[in-house]
Amino acid sequence: MKKTNTFKRVLAFVLVCLMAVSLVSCVGGSGGEGTIGIVMPTKSLERWNRDGSYLKKEFEAKGYDVELVYADNDVAQQVNDIENLIAGEVDLLVIAAVDGESLTNVLEGAKEADIPVIAYDRLIMNTEAVKYYVSFDNYTVGKLQGQYVIDTLGLKLDDTSKTYNIEFTAGDPADNNAGFFFNGAFDTLKPYLDAGILKCVSGQTAFTQVATQSWSTDNALSRMQNILGSYYSDGTVLDIALCSNDSTALGVSKAIESDYAGSNQPIITGQDGDEANLANMIDGKQSMTVYKAVANEAVVTLNLAISILEGKTPNGDLITESGWDFACAYDTESYDNNTGKIPSYLLVPTVVTKDNIQKELVDTGYYKMDGNYPKAIG
Ligand code: BGC
Repeated sequence: MKKTNTFKRVLAFVLVCLMAVSLVSCVGGSGGEGTIGIVMPTKSLERWNRDGSYLKKEFEAKGYDVELVYADNDVAQQVNDIENLIAGEVDLLVIAAVDGESLTNVLEGAKEADIPVIAYDRLIMNTEAVKYYVSFDNYTVGKLQGQYVIDTLGLKLDDTSKTYNIEFTAGDPADNNAGFFFNGAFDTLKPYLDAGILKCVSGQTAFTQVATQSWSTDNALSRMQNILGSYYSDGTVLDIALCSNDSTALGVSKAIESDYAGSNQPIITGQDGDEANLANMIDGKQSMTVYKAVANEAVVTLNLAISILEGKTPNGDLITESGWDFACAYDTESYDNNTGKIPSYLLVPTVVTKDNIQKELVDTGYYKMDGNYPKAIG
């Protein structure tokens, strides 16, 4: 009798322990083991600081160790960073490339060491080491910028009574995203250029002519100063400066402030929601930005990485299984890195103007107001 009671008590204790263990693992998700190498391009462009800290936070919260490195926009340094992480035997690499074409050799090492690579935000070209790509819908970013111009000016293809002058500023040719952004905007506006409703006075409408090395604010500034000096100093009105992102928009705004002879404020587009640009939007010097919630991009990367590390081959089901409260598409067609199409998880960008900063950025918890201006919560 006594023996049976003791046995029952032991059994009950074991059951309670088992339930407690399974409860903890349900609530906390799978406790991660291992080290994640997170390779970011530079601290000098604002968003990558946010990406780095969100990614680090997400992975550490799941129990992974994180090695986070920044390459100062320098290809050789990034190659070196990756070599060191491979030598240190990280379990997975998350890489936002400085130059998407320059990592082929170093990533051979990752392949040989069986270290899975996720291309983060920017596709890495010419390597089979990249198994997945996480980004926003880059073409849509450009489309939203173009559509903003059409809507703001109320352009109609059958109304050629009023024409507008436009100049384009695109991103870094080394960044595979830059062409997608530019094409999204240009394709959207092309019918209006063809109809003569929009006129590019400088005539610079090819990506190679309007690209900005390293996405640098100073490069965008000096190119726009040249354009204003060469084509607008006689009082020609500039109505629109279509800029692919905020770092270039910042340079273009500065050029307009210092070198534009006209008195109107041209429409200026951007992307990212950098603090300086949000301040410019509030002060009327930039019209819009396309916001990409990089906090969510980090969450997608985390869930994808966990699935890969569990030995699975993630596909579109990851989206439903993860139960994210934001939209994300699984795309196996749009991104080819020259070794084949790379399965991609693409998040959805949002247009932010002065009028919805509060709703889209502050109420959502991504920024807080600091006096009149939003500051990112990283
Ligand atoms: C990112 C943009 C960013 C740009 C410059 C691109 O790859 O997608 O969000 O503005 O790099 O940092």
